[in-house]
Order: sequence, then structure tokens, then C-alpha cells
Amino acid sequence: MHKKTCYTTTPIYYVTAKPHLGSLYSTVIADVITRWHQLKGYDTYMLTGTDEHGQKVFQAATAAGKDPKSFVDSFIESYHDTWQKYEIAYTHFIRTTDASHIAAVQEWIRQLQAKGDIYKALYEGWYCTPCETFVTETEINEQRAAGHDQPHCPTCGRPVQAMQEETYFFRLSAYQDRLLAYYAEHPDFIIPRERAHEVIQFVKSGLKDLSISRKTVTWGIPFPGDEHQVTYVWADALNNYITAIGWGQKGKEAEFKHWWPANVQVMGKDIIRFHAIYWPAFLMAIDQPLPKHLLVHGWIKVDKQKMSKSLGNVVDPIVLYNEYGADAVRYYLMRHMAVTHDGEFAIADLEQAITSELANDLGNLLNRTISLAEKHDALKLDDPRLWSPAALELIEQAWQTIESVSEYMDDLMIHMAVARLWKFINQVNAYFHAHEPWKLAKDNRKQFIEVLAVTCHSLYVIGVIAWPIMPYKMQELLAALGCKLQVDTEHDRLADIALSYHQRTFILTKGAPLFVKPEPKEASVEEPKVEPTYIAIDDVAKVELLVGTIAHAETVPKSDKLLMLQVDFGPLGVRQVLAGIRQSYEPAELHGQQALFVGNLKPRMMLGHESQGMLLVAKDVNGKAIIMRPLVAVPNGSRLA
Ligand code: MSP
Repeated sequence: MHKKTCYTTTPIYYVTAKPHLGSLYSTVIADVITRWHQLKGYDTYMLTGTDEHGQKVFQAATAAGKDPKSFVDSFIESYHDTWQKYEIAYTHFIRTTDASHIAAVQEWIRQLQAKGDIYKALYEGWYCTPCETFVTETEINEQRAAGHDQPHCPTCGRPVQAMQEETYFFRLSAYQDRLLAYYAEHPDFIIPRERAHEVIQFVKSGLKDLSISRKTVTWGIPFPGDEHQVTYVWADALNNYITAIGWGQKGKEAEFKHWWPANVQVMGKDIIRFHAIYWPAFLMAIDQPLPKHLLVHGWIKVDKQKMSKSLGNVVDPIVLYNEYGADAVRYYLMRHMAVTHDGEFAIADLEQAITSELANDLGNLLNRTISLAEKHDALKLDDPRLWSPAALELIEQAWQTIESVSEYMDDLMIHMAVARLWKFINQVNAYFHAHEPWKLAKDNRKQFIEVLAVTCHSLYVIGVIAWPIMPYKMQELLAALGCKLQVDTEHDRLADIALSYHQRTFILTKGAPLFVKPEPKEASVEEPKVEPTYIAIDDVAKVELLVGTIAHAETVPKSDKLLMLQVDFGPLGVRQVLAGIRQSYEPAELHGQQALFVGNLKPRMMLGHESQGMLLVAKDVNGKAIIMRPLVAVPNGSRLA
């Protein structure tokens, strides 16, 4: 029998650090879409991985004093670990340094060369290393016209470097008309549709040929036929979507045919141009069909700014996992970040969602149902043969929910699907309350059993539909009902729900609460908004703020908070300072670092050691204390003015 297939991809991540919440977001979206198809019996393949070549990675490796390969290798484990903790059920993790990928990219270039799609010429223009992108002269001219002296990257806003080198060009301009025709004929190629406009405008304004090699970069895939050039990192990276499933590799033709074209390729809005223009043209050049949908999501922002390493507002997914668990975070990202828009991430909102939506709306419903059944000896629940009109109404609401959630999921509007599911959860809660089963238990056993049974059926529907979002917690919910969800390519589990209303016996088990409400934390209590208390300039002058170099740092016995620092204040001598940063820094990391100190704080004893000053720190979004230091070194003992 021919099986329906679903191939989903995430962008491959630059490996200059551990994954952050932005990378997790793209990955969870792809995982949810994959699992949704698994629920419907599709044969699925989910691809994720890492983008390891190029100038950006090379520079980061050099700054870290490592060779690029061992530098990228050092982060791979943290990707595997994070994805495993967050239940990302990927089929394959590709690394662009994999030998099979390298060979297939070279094969792709050879095919383009044979076709006449590649020629050598001088590239003169601008380059943004953080985005690994060529910035066009037109874009820089627009900036100049708008009064900006410093040429900058239109995507990330950072300065660009002038570049002039012989490179190989891909005849992108030759694909302009075909691309425009494709967008017109496939209005749901780019989702959401609004994002297609900017792409179409860009293509209509005239596509220039694209440089697909670099001469001054060495960390990349050797360009076939020219040992002085490496493949441009985006030409290398985009091809991962086909090389991972066997394109260009002998004996893997059937595998490739089985999966390609991809059903959904997920990416953030910052990389739409690469995926919606270059990538389709790359595929057209080798006569391959284009992916069915590109799902373009917005950015996660913290304090209204895009989360990024350079801004220092990066949220660590592992910190969130340890505090709230994977499923709560997955739920929050999928429901509270509208996939089509930028979303603001705030711990307070996450905690609020866990408390009111997960613990109260859903967890309590399960808990109350099972507690009541336990109290009145009804832990084994058989279906009534006939449902009463009130129960049938709830069953009807369940059908409508399945239908609307499916529509939203098929349109990839995940946040809408989750919100719609919660409407049903509220309907079930309303039904449960209105029928007061705790009273029926004494007066009308038959009706009591029916209320419990239809509530359990509703919880079963919820457990199945919400499984792609919260795989672990929903299996736990189903287990409490005596059920287990098994996804395979033989069954459409959504369609199966329809059969279950007259066939299912629930065997209920009381367990720990499904979701734990986060404890209100002292630190997370909103600071009361008070008018600032102003101080006079003389008061400021009283505080002596000094720059010093931490010559030595060590732990303090019996303290998991303190580090003891020997600080060199130049002409003011070396002083001992105790600081509560044990949880944030290893002593060795601090050696030789300059930092800011209060110099004239009255010395005091801490755990038997004298502290002769105070280190200044600020907390990052994960609560880690970050030392403050001058942008460039200044003499020790300098006083802040
Ligand atoms: N290596 C390229 C992608 C190559 S795909 C052939 C790249 N990597 S990245 O690591 O910089 O970004 C990967 C993905 O993470 C992008 O989809 C990007 O939009 C997403 N995010 C990075 N920061 C983000 C937020 N703050 N919010 C949401 N997603 C963001 O680009």
C-alpha cells in the first residue's frame, strides 16, 4: 500500500554556541508538525542539524583559540542533549561537515557547471559576516540616500565589510521569471502569505547573479575544479535539505524520491530570502520540485528586542527545562508565540500559562474526575449504551474541536489550533461543573457514571490532539485514563477517535498532579513601581567606583555562593574581595579579567575572611550574575567618574 509521507525540516543552526530559545522554537515547531502527521498515520521524516562552515564559524573558532572542526564538535553534544530533553523526535541530525553532505554539494556544483549555470567573475560589494550574506549595492545606496554614513546589514543592522574578490557566480537572474510564476501559481508556498509580498517585491526589483564561492575564506567545502575557492556557506547549507535524504548519492535514489519534495520547511523571518529565492532557484537548476510549504515564523523577543548573543538577552532552554519541564515550555512557545508574528517571551507569562491553563484548566479537570471516581468506587468506567442529550452535546463539541484543530494544523497555524483546543477544555469544565457529579454520586449513579465517562472521553480526545505539543505529559494523561497512544503508519489516530465512543473502557489511576504550579519566587515578584529617590551629586561622589584586575579567584570552603578574589588595583594595591558569584563563574574563568568594584565599602568579615570591597554585577535573563568590565582595558585603580 502506498503510504502518505511527510518530510519536515528545521533550519540548520550555526554552531558558535549552545542552542538558545530561538533555535528551540524553530525546532519545536517542526517537531509538532511532524508529530501531527504521525498522529494521522503518515510516514514521517524530520531533519535538523548544524551549519558548520563559513566565515562566522571560523572567526568564532579563532577567537576561542580552536581549530574550526574541534570548535564545532564541542557544541554538538549540547544540541543532542537539548533536543532529547525537549522530546524532539528527529529522524536525522545532519552536520554540514559530514562527508556525504560535502560530496553531494560538490556533485550539485558539478551539475550546475555542466549546465552552464556557473561562471567566474569579480564580486565587488559588501558582506555581513553574522548573517553570512552579500549586501547589494542598491541596499547600501538606499541607506546612503536615507542619510546613513555607515553601510550596515539590512537584516541585523550590524556594519558590513567591503569585499572584492574573484568568485564563481550562479545565474540566479535567469530564474527570475520562473520564480515569479511559481509564487503566483502557489499562493500557499510561503506561509503566512503576507511574507510572500516582500519576497515577490525583491524578486521583481531584479535579481542579480549570486556569488556561490569565496576565495578569502578557507573553512568551507572545496569548490570543484578550483582549489583556491570554497563553496559559499549558504549554497552549502541550503542543500542539506536534499543531501540528508540521499540526493546526489549512489544507491540512495529511491530514498530521495520517497521524501522529496519536503512538505514543510520551517524557518525564522530573518532567513526567508535565502529559502524563498535562492533555494527554489537552486532546486530548479537541478530540475527538482520545490518544497510544498515554507513556514516562516516570527522572532522571540526579550524586552522588545530580538534575542541574540550580542545583546546578551539569550534565554537558555536548559534553565527553563530544569525549572518548568519540557512540555510546559513547548506548550507556552506553541500557544503564546503566534507563529506568524514576533512574540515577547517573559517568565511571568510562562508561569501564568502553567498555572492557569495547564494546572488549573487541564490538570485539575483530570484530577477532579479521577478523585471523584475513586471516592465513589467508579475507577473502572464502561460506556453507557446510550448517551443522554447533554453528553451528546459535549461529544458533538469534541467532533467540532477535532475538525477545527485539524484545519488550523493543516494551515500550520499552531497557536490557533492550541487556542481552539483550550476552548473545548473550557467547555468540558463547564459541563462538569454544571452537572455537579459530586451530588449525582449520591442521588443518581447512572447519570454520575455518564458524566464521568463522557468527561474521560473528552480528556482522551484532548490527550490525543495535544500529544504533538506535549508528548510526554499527554501520554501521562492517557495513562491515568488507562489508555496509551501508539502512533504508526497503519492507523489514523484522529479518525480512530470517532470509533472510540462506544468501545472504550477507562481504567482510572490516581497519580501525581499532571502539572505543578510554579512557586511564587521572591526574585520573580514584580518590583513595585516606586518613584525614583533622587540623590545629590555629593552622594554619588561618596561612592568610590574602581577598576581592578582579578589576579586570582578561589572557592571559599563551606560556601556554595562565595568566591574569594585577589584584586589588583594598581597604585592602590591588591585587595581581597568576596563576591556571591560561585553559581555563575568558575574561578579560572575570572583570572585576568578586569571588573568594577566599590572601593570604599567598610571592610567586613564573611565566613572568617575579610572582604575589602564589593564586586559589581548585573543579572542576565537566566539569573546568572555577569561581571561588568570596561570595553577596552584601562589602568588598574582607575576611578569611575
Ligand atoms: N545557519 C542558518 C540557517 C541555514 S538553513 C539552511 C541560520 N542559523 S541560525 O542559527 O542563526 O538561526 C537558525 C534559526 O533560528 C532561524 O530560523 C532563526 O530565525 C531562528 N532564531 C534565531 N534567533 C531567534 C529568535 N530570537 N526568535 C525566533 N527564532 C530565532 O540562520
